[in-house]
Amino acid sequence: MNRIDGGSAPVSTLSRRNLLKAGVGAIALAAASPLALLPRPARAVAPISTLTFTELPRIYDQTHHVADGYKADVVLRWGDKVTADAPAFDPAAQTADSQSKQAGYNNDHMAYFPLPMGSQNSERGILAINNEYPDFQIMFPGLITSEDDAGKAVSKDQADIGLASVGLTIVEVEKKDGAWRVVEGSPLARRITGFTEFAISGPAAGHDLMKTSEDPTGTKVIGTSTNCAGGHTPWGTVLSCEEWSVSFFGGDPAKTQTREALERIGMASEDYYGLARFYDRFNVEKEPNELNRFQWVVEVDPYDASAAPVKRTALGRFGHEGAAVALNKDGRAVVYMGDDDYFEYIYRFVSTNAFNPADRAANLKLLDEGVLSVAKLNADGTLQWMPLVQGTGPLTAENGFPDQATVLINARAAADRLGATKMDRPEDMEVSPVTGRVYAVMTKNKKRKPEQVDAANPRAANLWGQIVELIPPGSGAEADHAADNFTWSLLVLAGDTAKPEIKASFHPETTANGWFATPDNIAMDPKGRLWIATDGQNDFGIADGVFAMDVEGPGRGLSRALFACPTGAEATGPFFTPDGKTMFLSVQHPGEDSESVAKLSTTWPDFAPNGLPRPAVVAITRIDGGEIGG
Ligand code: FEO
Ligand code: CA
Ligand code: CA
Repeated sequence: MNRIDGGSAPVSTLSRRNLLKAGVGAIALAAASPLALLPRPARAVAPISTLTFTELPRIYDQTHHVADGYKADVVLRWGDKVTADAPAFDPAAQTADSQSKQAGYNNDHMAYFPLPMGSQNSERGILAINNEYPDFQIMFPGLITSEDDAGKAVSKDQADIGLASVGLTIVEVEKKDGAWRVVEGSPLARRITGFTEFAISGPAAGHDLMKTSEDPTGTKVIGTSTNCAGGHTPWGTVLSCEEWSVSFFGGDPAKTQTREALERIGMASEDYYGLARFYDRFNVEKEPNELNRFQWVVEVDPYDASAAPVKRTALGRFGHEGAAVALNKDGRAVVYMGDDDYFEYIYRFVSTNAFNPADRAANLKLLDEGVLSVAKLNADGTLQWMPLVQGTGPLTAENGFPDQATVLINARAAADRLGATKMDRPEDMEVSPVTGRVYAVMTKNKKRKPEQVDAANPRAANLWGQIVELIPPGSGAEADHAADNFTWSLLVLAGDTAKPEIKASFHPETTANGWFATPDNIAMDPKGRLWIATDGQNDFGIADGVFAMDVEGPGRGLSRALFACPTGAEATGPFFTPDGKTMFLSVQHPGEDSESVAKLSTTWPDFAPNGLPRPAVVAITRIDGGEIGG
């Protein structure tokens, strides 16, 4: 989501050292070499990029667009039937009960799980889709209000529809005659919502800070919210990240005994969705611990519709965006995670035990025990992972950390104590299946002042974002994701390449159509190329969309556009089938720039008379059936 941002600010400078760190110097020198001026020989010249598609020209209108030779089919829209007993979507007669059987709102992260489990089937599988937050002002005909006033205007029934619209949507999908469709009546289909019971596991389960009047055990919680990006595990589960659950709470933190902790997690007395008017547990003045039970990583087993979802406290509590999983060479599971807020951190979890391909039940507990660390990116290109372990360094009882549960619940405060590097809103992360290098997206940070720039966040008033490459020792399957020390470099500084004052650092052959800003979600295709979905280019008057680049070889940093979203939408959750021939993509919040249902900027994708815009999942394929990107 992009609600925590907005506005604009002047740009500043970027040092030559950082330009060189980003690889720009070498690329620019190569392009300016005398050889580049010679007539091209008749024989074929190796292309710079491995990506062969003709990029999409800039376009921003009421519908979506995809590059020539590709198609983007709508697979699942908000309100479509999920469970067998779901009613047909009727925007004029929405209820929480019907919404909890239909596809949720504002689809974000997705993961595709082949069927049967353990296969590489790229034509039949399960899609597990995050649903992040409701847009009340464009969900309900007749609720004429501004987005900012929605929380004051909604009725309890509408607020409950909002709770039912978030969480996860799990459906079975299959590809027939080149087109993807949802398999109706699948026993695997289910919704997980703001009303679903979750188990709480890991070191914080049962801790006093997790206990509420409704749950004196501190081991279970009703609901999830703001399920943004996520990840998937080698044992076939999806990780869903609770990013900004504070937006589902109201009450004034200044009137509580836990003001400092509430404010550090981002709590302000907004009651954005009106829930504190209807539920005491969403009012921090009445139930200050309830918010401690949100903003975790949730693990869901898509292969078992009866399996209870679990909040995994060992992975820490912050503004969770992505959760990229790598299997270390010794079998331990490693999870890379971003905390999407201004000046927040990059985290890593390393499991204590190793993945066992013969014991799925044991794997389902791997994320309950291990070490959470936070990253410090030094100016010399080295990176240290600093463990968030109670009793080490400043993480002591005297400093407010009497036990490990308190460290995990207040992970941001613990990371502050360790002096971790304050990043430009860390969003998604992804691990290259080829090199083992890790890519971390910083979406932007308008609040960074000139005196606050550092090597990894080199631009003040950063409206464009950057992608940072984290480099473990070793390469490919030998990469040591559990090492204490990595190195890092800047892959790209994003922004308009026609404005030199911005200091964007794409490969110089990136065209006016190919540069991007405000990167958010990323995916790696089977060949290890990076696909970037953006959230916030609308601020520059251009569409959000999907871009791709090599990260290795001469095409490193040469970005080109594949897909453009309709008005008001961001692109989220790109995910490839194992064969690389389908990219599932979420088109989130189409028409969100509309003031109300009475003034919709688009009614994508149906364009029905008097219809509503509907966030939807699309399947992008090549018309000739080949691999995405070539
Ligand atoms: Fe929900 Fe950070 O995007
Ligand atoms: Ca975002
Ligand atoms: Ca996001």
